[in-house]
Amino acid sequence: MLDRFLLLFALSLMLALVNSQQPSTAGFISIDCGNANSKYLDPITKISYVSDDQFISAGSNFDISSEHINSTVPTRELNLRSFPDGLRNCYRLKNVSQNRAYLVRATFMHGNYDGKNNLPTKFDLHIGVNYWKTIIISDPSAIYTVEALSYATANLTSVCLINTGSGTPFISSLELRPLRNGLYGEYVNASQSVVLVTRRDMGASDNVRFPDDPYDRVWNPSNDPSWVTLSTDLKVDNADDLFEPPITVLQTAVTPATGRQLDFSLDAASPDDKLYHVLYFTELQALTGNATRVFNITRNGETRFSWYTPPYLSYGYIYNTEPFEGYSRYQYVLDATSNSTLPPIINAFEVYSLMHLTQAATDSGDVDAMEEIKLQYQIKRNWMGDPCAPKSYTWDGLNCVYSPDYPRITSVNLSSGGLTGEISRSFAMLKDIKSLYLSHNKLNGPIPDSLGSLSALQVLDLSCNNLTGTIPDSLGYLSSLQVLNLSGNNFNAYVPDNLRKKSDVGLITFRHDKIDCTIVPSPVPTSDNKKTKTPIILIPSVVGALLLLVAVVVFIVRRSRKLQGRASDDSVQPCVDQSQQRPDSTKQQVLFESRKFTYKELENITNNFSRVMGKGGFGMVYHGCLETGKQVAIKMRSLSSQQGMMEFLAEAQNLTKIYHRNLVSLVGYCVDKNCLALVYEYMQRGSLHENLQDKAGRAKALNWGQRLRIALDAAQGLEYMHKGCRPPIIHRDIKTSNILLSEGLEARIADFGLSKSFHSDDQTHVSTKMVVGTPGYIDPEYHRTYQLTDKSDVYSFGIVLLELITGRPPIVPGPGNIHIMQWIAPSLSSGNIDEIVDENLQGKYDPTSAWKILELALKCTADKGSQRPTMFEVVMLLKSCLEQEIDSYKSENIYSKGFNVSQETASDIGPFGPSAR
Ligand SMILES: *[C@@H]1O[C@H](CO)[C@@H](O)[C@H](O)[C@H]1NC(C)=O
Ligand SMILES: *[C@@H]1O[C@H](CO)[C@@H](O)[C@H](O)[C@H]1NC(C)=O
Ligand SMILES: *[C@@H]1O[C@H](CO)[C@@H](O)[C@H](O)[C@H]1NC(C)=O
Ligand SMILES: *[C@@H]1O[C@H](CO)[C@@H](O)[C@H](O)[C@H]1NC(C)=O
Ligand SMILES: *[C@@H]1O[C@H](CO)[C@@H](O)[C@H](O)[C@H]1NC(C)=O
Ligand SMILES: *[C@@H]1O[C@H](CO)[C@@H](O)[C@H](O)[C@H]1NC(C)=O
Ligand SMILES: *[C@@H]1O[C@H](CO)[C@@H](O)[C@H](O)[C@H]1NC(C)=O
Repeated sequence: MLDRFLLLFALSLMLALVNSQQPSTAGFISIDCGNANSKYLDPITKISYVSDDQFISAGSNFDISSEHINSTVPTRELNLRSFPDGLRNCYRLKNVSQNRAYLVRATFMHGNYDGKNNLPTKFDLHIGVNYWKTIIISDPSAIYTVEALSYATANLTSVCLINTGSGTPFISSLELRPLRNGLYGEYVNASQSVVLVTRRDMGASDNVRFPDDPYDRVWNPSNDPSWVTLSTDLKVDNADDLFEPPITVLQTAVTPATGRQLDFSLDAASPDDKLYHVLYFTELQALTGNATRVFNITRNGETRFSWYTPPYLSYGYIYNTEPFEGYSRYQYVLDATSNSTLPPIINAFEVYSLMHLTQAATDSGDVDAMEEIKLQYQIKRNWMGDPCAPKSYTWDGLNCVYSPDYPRITSVNLSSGGLTGEISRSFAMLKDIKSLYLSHNKLNGPIPDSLGSLSALQVLDLSCNNLTGTIPDSLGYLSSLQVLNLSGNNFNAYVPDNLRKKSDVGLITFRHDKIDCTIVPSPVPTSDNKKTKTPIILIPSVVGALLLLVAVVVFIVRRSRKLQGRASDDSVQPCVDQSQQRPDSTKQQVLFESRKFTYKELENITNNFSRVMGKGGFGMVYHGCLETGKQVAIKMRSLSSQQGMMEFLAEAQNLTKIYHRNLVSLVGYCVDKNCLALVYEYMQRGSLHENLQDKAGRAKALNWGQRLRIALDAAQGLEYMHKGCRPPIIHRDIKTSNILLSEGLEARIADFGLSKSFHSDDQTHVSTKMVVGTPGYIDPEYHRTYQLTDKSDVYSFGIVLLELITGRPPIVPGPGNIHIMQWIAPSLSSGNIDEIVDENLQGKYDPTSAWKILELALKCTADKGSQRPTMFEVVMLLKSCLEQEIDSYKSENIYSKGFNVSQETASDIGPFGPSAR
């Protein structure tokens, strides 16, 4: 306590020096909606407001009607922008700083702007893709204000008005104020935002805001006949790193007019609202003689704090770290205690409710690309806000996938969209796109070579444009491409060799015919295209188009059956790997309700534990199939010992909180008197260990590119554990048998049974009594010092890299069973990479790339942890290696190689463990 006061004192000196100047408005975004005037200064706050023109193009401007105008109505409320059209209209706020919390405030004054006085009106507000608040306007002369503390995860955010069918949305002003990092502590961060419920300045006579409050929070006066006001002109020390209430706010307080008890209440919109409060107390009277002020603070009868004495001309606060809920009204009572001579006081309080961040925003690369496409072609439609999220507001013409972490765009249909000019290079930035329909437009110029980088592209329809030039052979390298329609364009006759060959053997439907482009085919159905009109076209062409469509569909279905690896979006099998269809999640908000199973259910799921997949340190692992058809792996813990129960529960708890595409996700768990089990998603291709050790056939060996990809996936998973988790987690048992592979060879890290968390950010290591891990993978430094750091995982990862390169286990069998590092040493000194690299690769690898990975592995396994790279650095290096690999792969004649890859993907390496087969 003493420490804290000393610190406060030092801080206050510093702030006093800084505070002598007017606070800065740098970073403020102040928008007067519906005002055509470009810029003006607010006479009271001296904050500069700008017109909303540069932030939105939809909607129309209105002035409020004169009967509601008087001198107290601020300029920003005199006009508004209303949105009669579109379900969602968004302000695009480009100037926010990424990774900073903002106060976001919107105001609404109806003022009978449309002369219809049609009230009440009701609509929703979103920040980005997440619901913020429902606005209900019933009084035309009232100013409604909503405010949130929200974290900008990108350098762009949006505020959207949603028409929910109960009136036309409108808005009068929009203000964003950057908050200092750390202000409001855990209340607002990358995974949490809060909505203001109330902010009251007790005993004040006027609003307090900027410049008194450098963050422009608005503090509303709060008074009651049963209270008397105390105030001071003396400077109150408000220095603090957590809430920084303005001095002006602390200079007034209230105390009961009579008696020894002060009470006030707070209304929540719903008992389910999760609330956070901050109560501020400052003693404003110099207490002389034996005068004392001591009180208890209770909320709904529950004591929150006892024997509290506010500090004189400094301030104290009470806040909660866990939200409270359960009532629609909260009654606060401050009660003077028996040894107090004075009644209680309070200076101010704030209450916030938790905002649910349920949606993930679309991948930022996809968003940038779509914004450029929208700009280039001046596309109107409903293209506002996030392209994919929330799902019900997906932009017209787009299809998206919503897993595993960020929504991604998989299809763009701009056929008959009135597009002119060249094909935007931004289409090539939609990395996950599977179909692109641009037919029946007025596009000219060449096809950008960069479209050949869209490795997932299956359908490219550019028919009926005025495109010229040559057909880039990059399209022929696209191994996933199934339909390429260039009919009705004027290309040079030359068709690239690779494309012609694929077309000859029926691997691609390639069209480049002279067709009548005045006939517009029926729109290609997209999954959410409800508004499709029946086209009025000549019957024969409809039939023709239908036949073509059927043929294409049949072709695609056949093909996708043949190439199992690339299961189409809607293929239904009795028990499918649904790892591609995980529930929506955001990087920030990882609230998986993991399911609790009973023993009986596990029996059903596993068909009486009939299929054993393996045996781990933990117990047996069984295969199971949920009611939904989803396959799972169930790790049962033997009940023979009670030891480890706490660790087990901690792991289950931990696992429900972390989520990353490269970590095996927990589906649920079972804890009852009969069983203790963890239910994981099932990984088709089993562990990396099995895939490397499978000496059965060279054909099945992972190729170099696949190994790089797996290394990168695993590194990303590990980096997430080290840097993305709060508190950070050390895995402690990274090895090839804990890296599992999905059907599509995506790698995920498993088995967090030995994981340890750092308890605070500044802790650099965890001391353990005992070294755990797997022989061959254990960090020698940890072995010596018993101090576990994230660099111990880096060491183990280095060993995994060596295994990927050499195909050898960490303890290489043979005379003396030597460690893999010793095993490579002789070849390393002679500089002979061929002796080191796995012979199963049959020499098919790029030596430069292999050297790079080898070097990385050696850095990771450096003797001293401090000399090893961080996982972030590892990820960056692996990414660049993989990109080079892809580039060189493209520059070769990939025609046959590309198809080898798909066959490998479709091979039948069995489920989870070798024992399953
Ligand atoms: C946003 O930033 C740009 C460039 O930094 C600047 O010109 C513009 O005035 C800013 N807009 C607002 C509203 O602050
Ligand atoms: C001015 O307008 C505000 C808001 O419309 C209203 O609350 C206030 O009573 C009005 N004041 C006067 C003096 O008319
Ligand atoms: C915002 O992010 C985009 C893409 O991530 C980048 O191109 C742009 O330069 C960034 N703008 C600022 C002001 O940082
Ligand atoms: C101190 O308290 C006693 C009784 O509690 C009272 O009689 C006395 O007047 C007080 N002194 C002052 C200076 O207030
Ligand atoms: C204040 O709280 C203390 C400790 O909880 C309790 O003993 C005391 O009776 C309370 N006093 C009043 C006036 O509520
Ligand atoms: C009042 O009594 C409580 C409990 O005995 C004690 O902690 C506190 O310091 C006292 N305060 C004063 C001002 O005497
Ligand atoms: C197609 O482009 C050529 C020039 O590249 C131009 O001469 C011709 O008029 C265009 N045709 C149409 C229908 O726009």
